[in-house]
Amino acid sequence: MSNGLLINASGVVTCAGNLPQSDAGVVADAALAWTDGRIEWIGPVSQLPQQFAGYPRIDAEGLLVVPGLVDCHTHLAFGGWRADEFAERARGVSYLEIARRGGGIMCTVRQTREATEEELLEHARTYMNRMLSVGVTTIECKSGYGLTVDDELKLLRVYDSLRKSGPARIVATCLGAHVVPVEYRDDRSAYVEILRDDLIPRVADAGLAAYFDVFVEEGAFTADEARSILETASRFGLRAKLHVDQLHDMNGGALAAELDAVSADHLEYVSDPGIAAMEAAGVVPVALPLASLYLRQTPLNARRFLDREISVAVATEFNPGSAPSYHLPLAMTLACTMNGMTPAEALVGATRIAARAIEMDRLVGSLEPEKRADFILVDTPTVDQWVYLFEPNKVKATYIDGNQVWSTSSGDS
Ligand code: NIG
Repeated sequence: MSNGLLINASGVVTCAGNLPQSDAGVVADAALAWTDGRIEWIGPVSQLPQQFAGYPRIDAEGLLVVPGLVDCHTHLAFGGWRADEFAERARGVSYLEIARRGGGIMCTVRQTREATEEELLEHARTYMNRMLSVGVTTIECKSGYGLTVDDELKLLRVYDSLRKSGPARIVATCLGAHVVPVEYRDDRSAYVEILRDDLIPRVADAGLAAYFDVFVEEGAFTADEARSILETASRFGLRAKLHVDQLHDMNGGALAAELDAVSADHLEYVSDPGIAAMEAAGVVPVALPLASLYLRQTPLNARRFLDREISVAVATEFNPGSAPSYHLPLAMTLACTMNGMTPAEALVGATRIAARAIEMDRLVGSLEPEKRADFILVDTPTVDQWVYLFEPNKVKATYIDGNQVWSTSSGDS
């Protein structure tokens, strides 16, 4: 853990919690000081308290300082890719049709079951490092491509290893209810029983996940199955997350509220009563524009939430099928062009609100006293310009707990 003082920034974007999502909170000529990796002071450099004057200095060289990005929805560890399906979908074959033929999620399940834990860890570490290079410091990681007790535990152990090795902060979610695996298609209730009686207790017992996620959709799980799975998960201390209303209105917003889910992700087809129920229950909506882009689907209109002052998180959903990109700044640009968010809303959605979607907002997601010194140096004059002019990478360095974990001199990953 380090002490440090960041100087010579063109501005510090705080994304502070007392501001609305539309205001990223830029402080000009600011300095940032931390002790043992925890932010102690932020303010105009002319008012720097004497106690921090001797701290080791980091020169931001005129770059913009932004909180480390938080990707609150990824499927980081998986076996194999699905470029053939991408080409098929480009010719007009639908995602659900490919899934009905045994492709889609089940295609990745087969390849993930074949992969060893070491191979999956190497893959996950490679992409964690690439995510650091585009400014992501905290990553939510879902299982969901194992779909047997052993293979789900294998994926969650991969995340546990990453969490222990770092440097990114890792939060794991068990997505054992991604789809009903083919071997149980004629006996769905037997699979639900395995989740409830075996997988959930073992995940909880080993402390391998904070959340349990269910995909509620045609071809995946019903609302009643989700209730039964998530009520059990909750008894074992795993809070609910849901993939809902992605391809159809499945009444998913209301279901997420009823089950006290921490977040409801996708929501392309969420109904107005679903939005009202989520607002009342405090469920965080998560926009996943890369999935809408790759599946050529109607995107979520985030203004339906934002105009009611309900904050919306933005995430990549990195996976080999519906969202083969780990580039959260790209997702922020798409959140503007597809979800109707402003650049400031997209940035706050990918920092403070995303941290809320994984209950990490006491620690990360904004630059304020008491939070960790996780920040990035971005080569842009303003947030608007960063999000508007898409370039492969404007991030020049990434810091966690005040320590540099990536910079342009480290190479691209
Ligand atoms: O959110 N919807 C379910 N899961 C992912 C898709 C994963 C895949 O296609 O492999 C999604 O889009």
